[in-house]
Amino acid sequence: MEKFITKIQSIESNIPLKEQLNFASELIKTGEVVAFPTETVYGLGGDALNPEAIRKIYSIKGRPSDNPLIVHISGEDMLYELVDEDKLSETAKRLIECFFPGPLTIIVEKSGNVPNATTSGLDTIAIRWPANNVANSLIQLSETPIAAPSANTSGKPSPTNAKDVFEDMEGKIKLIIDGGSTEIGFESTVVDVHDSKSGISILRPGKVTPEEIELCLKVPFVLHDLSNSNHTVIRSPGMKYRHYAPKAKIILVSTSQQAIHELERNKSSKKGIFISKNSLNAVLKSRFNMPEHLIFCYSSSKEFGSKFFKKLREMDREGVELIIIQFSDTSSFGNAIFDRLKKAASNL
Ligand code: TXA
Ligand code: MG
Repeated sequence: MEKFITKIQSIESNIPLKEQLNFASELIKTGEVVAFPTETVYGLGGDALNPEAIRKIYSIKGRPSDNPLIVHISGEDMLYELVDEDKLSETAKRLIECFFPGPLTIIVEKSGNVPNATTSGLDTIAIRWPANNVANSLIQLSETPIAAPSANTSGKPSPTNAKDVFEDMEGKIKLIIDGGSTEIGFESTVVDVHDSKSGISILRPGKVTPEEIELCLKVPFVLHDLSNSNHTVIRSPGMKYRHYAPKAKIILVSTSQQAIHELERNKSSKKGIFISKNSLNAVLKSRFNMPEHLIFCYSSSKEFGSKFFKKLREMDREGVELIIIQFSDTSSFGNAIFDRLKKAASNL
């Protein structure tokens, strides 16, 4: 693979984005790959209509070629380059009205313009319009839809800040656009609406919940939540691969007592802990002699969601061998976080 000096370009709030994104959009237009922020996680972007750029994304990320990419747009005009308007179902149109731009990806039938490489040869395409100014400006200036998986090396936690992108991408790409920490902290909800007869399916849970989707569609519909089940047919190719795996072993618990029990049981290993009760802080420090930076106390699921990928990477850098995670939110939003935690914890 070609070696580059990787530049990190910080976005300044007092300079027009257009001026700051000239270099990035030139790179996209010439078939290069650029990392950029979205409201969910950082993406590793290239021109979605250029098979050579797509080849680079797969090779840099080490991504299996049968795992298709999400194509990012910044307006309706771009949507209709990727799908034929008359083939877009009412359900898809309604979801677009409700949630675009935002953390929802829809799977629909693709048009003839989209190279096979982008969709791994599938007839369908994943489309998302991110709600992030930097991402939108980059897409507009590049004058093409941008295909972008999360900007991590395959199998590692998704990056939520420029430093985490740099850790995986140093020397592999020319440019990382630093737009600060991402707001949501984990990837978009993926909804399959390509076949209106068989209903709609949530392939990957996310910040947009099944309840919000139901509220948007108003009319009765069949909702298959496949994200939680062991379906024999893999509908979203990415689901069969190992994800989010830190080097440390992860133990998931639901209560503080269980967390303490695990700390006691694993006395010898270097441990980190994610725990929701600030009051436990003192116990952790005195009884278990835990240094402050290896304790992540969170106050809400939203905060947990926005920081846990970052914390997993921090603990890896610290050489932590075991991470005990206490999390017990049973809401749909909590379920989206659980999906990642289970994948991070499983030793597939
Ligand atoms: O928030 C996000 O979605 C981030 C940011 C960068 O936008 N992107 C992201 O991309 O998470 P990636 O590549 O890490 O995950 C895309 C998921 C994979 O599980 C993939 O298999 C699935 O979407 N996917 C893509 N195209 C598909 C298709 N045509 N049918 C079914 N699943 C598809
Ligand atoms: Mg990913």
